[in-house]
Amino acid sequence: MSLNHLTLSILEETGYVVLDSYQQPIDPAEWKNLEYVDWKSSGDTRFAPLASAYGEIECNGFWHFDPPKADKDGVWIDSQVAIAPTLVERVKATGANVGRCRIIELQPNSYADALYNSHLDDNNRLNPEGEGWVLRLFMQLSHNPDSYMVLREDINDPSTETRIALPAGAQLLVDSERMWHSVWHQDPNGEPRYCLITSVESGPDLEKWVWENNPTQRVESAPLDQKTAVEGEIHAQERRAARTAFYGYDPTMVMSEA
Ligand SMILES: [Fe+2]
Repeated sequence: MSLNHLTLSILEETGYVVLDSYQQPIDPAEWKNLEYVDWKSSGDTRFAPLASAYGEIECNGFWHFDPPKADKDGVWIDSQVAIAPTLVERVKATGANVGRCRIIELQPNSYADALYNSHLDDNNRLNPEGEGWVLRLFMQLSHNPDSYMVLREDINDPSTETRIALPAGAQLLVDSERMWHSVWHQDPNGEPRYCLITSVESGPDLEKWVWENNPTQRVESAPLDQKTAVEGEIHAQERRAARTAFYGYDPTMVMSEA
């Protein structure tokens, strides 16, 4: 949360809101037929960009380009928009300035994997003071009621965790530069999870859309058995510590591009 950017007051307390589920059916071809690119990220993932810095099929942070720019004013990729018109319309309906916009494909993992993969996003690099704080909007596509967005205010404190179930249509707006996040994806058939993830700028248009979608600031965490919680915590923190020792710093603290 920045003192020098315009923010949404509804996110101040918890760093996220859960919105009404999106109920209209979308043909899975809109996400399955897109062009995917390999991109370094946490977990076993691929990404299909819908909007990028300058309209190419790639997922780089916008600050890598010449000229560099903040994570806003993304350029829609014509060939991808042609395949996913409904998804693009959903994002445009927020009215927000959109930066990176892409589908993530995530293979099944464990609770410990999710904690190991948890990170902060880098949404506001080069974002000029006085402009809107960039947030992440998650629109769940595949139906994964047994999968959870795992949010933590403090990655080292399990008591700050909220697990939010991800049935098809689930919609969350997260200050992902403040909230540690990752997904624990479980699927009985071993199928990947698909989600539309968009960088959106805080402002009156986004705020209006949020209020039109019945925002909930605090949801009850999905149940987690004690054994999974304790073993997952120990395993993940061991792996996190080993990674930190390897790099000489915790790479997830310096903010991910994912
Ligand atoms: Fe992220």
